[in-house]
Parts: sequence; structure tokens; C-alpha cells
Amino acid sequence: MLRRLWFSAMYWLPRPPPWDTGVTPPELERFVASHQPGRALDLGCGTGTNVVYVARHGWRAVGVDYAGRAIAKARQRTRAAGVRCELYVADVTRLDFLEPPFDLALDIGCLHSLAVGDRPRYAAGLARLVRPGGTYLLYAFAPGGPATGLTREDVAATFATAFHVVAVEEGAGRPSAWYTLERR
Ligand SMILES: C[S@@+](CC[C@H](N)C(=O)[O-])C[C@H]1O[C@@H](n2cnc3c(N)ncnc32)[C@H](O)[C@@H]1O
Repeated sequence: MLRRLWFSAMYWLPRPPPWDTGVTPPELERFVASHQPGRALDLGCGTGTNVVYVARHGWRAVGVDYAGRAIAKARQRTRAAGVRCELYVADVTRLDFLEPPFDLALDIGCLHSLAVGDRPRYAAGLARLVRPGGTYLLYAFAPGGPATGLTREDVAATFATAFHVVAVEEGAGRPSAWYTLERR
């Protein structure tokens, strides 16, 4: 609850929160450049930079964030870009309202701030939504920073029943990593 209030408040400040740069990371650009468009889900999509990015590249894009102000800004961004995206104010651990399948699930900085006890529900939701062979692209801080954080072992264990880890790359700056997982 406190976390949700904190994230929501960050989107009301006069300046954008530090993560809201409007810049799509090269890891996502590379993925998009090397895959056929399909259906993509951005978990904790914030103000929609990456939902709009994938939509511009021909993907059917869905974004979910529980900060209403962030989703309102994401809607403005999609209108300004002239693309269509589905955007929902919702909790990423309660995605029963979404229909599978997705070819790509993306999480840039959301999972690492969830309470550890919420991870199984998040992982079960992803397992239901991502098609076999589909990709889950995750950027997460390591423990010890501003978020709860995850180790490589945490990521492998959280998703062990339905995904396998196919790549891990160190993130730039603070201790963090980009994970590529594939749905079994
Ligand atoms: C660090 S921000 C990153 C936003 C976006 N992915 C980006 O790169 O700009 C994390 C986002 O996850 C959202 N978030 C955190 N926990 C969430 C939850 N349980 N359900 C939905 N959204 C959540 C926050 O509101 C915030 O917009």
C-alpha cells in the first residue's frame, strides 16, 4: 500500500521521476529489431515510453501500471504518437482480466520493488499469459539498493516452473541485470 502511494506520488511531482527518461533501453531496441512483431505486455509500464515504442514497431501493445497518473500520461503519449495501445490501471500481481497469449512480456524496474511474498502470484500470472516459446525481458536491481531487488538465483527460482533463463547481462550503473527468459 505504501509502495503504491509512493509510486503514485512520484508521478505528481513537477519533474518526472528519475526512471521516467522517455528513452527506450538498447536491450529492448535489440529485441524488437530481431523479432517479428506480435503481442507485448509491459508490466509496470509507467508513462508508456516502451509501450509506445513497441507499438510504433508494429506490436499490439498492452501496458499495466497501478499508478493512475502514470497511465493517464501513457494515454497522452499514445495519442501524441498516433498509436493504439491498451493501457490499464491495475496491479501486476492481479492480471486475471488479461487474455493470453503474449509473445513478449517486459518488466523494466517493477518486479524488483514487489514484496517477496508477491512474486509467486506475479510469476503465475506471467506463466498464464506468455505463450510457450515466448520471451520475458526483465530489468531488475540487485538487492542492497533502493528496491527489494533480486539476485540471479532469485530470478531463476521465482520463474523456475514455467520459464528458463536464457541470458543475463550486467546492467549499467547500479548493481542490476537484464534477464531474458523463455516460456517453456
Ligand atoms: C521504476 S518504475 C519503471 C516504469 C517504467 N517501466 C519505465 O521504465 O519507465 C516502476 C513502475 O512499476 C509500477 N509498479 C510497481 N509495483 C506495481 C504493481 N504491483 N502493480 C502495477 N504497477 C506497479 C510503478 O507504479 C512504476 O510506474
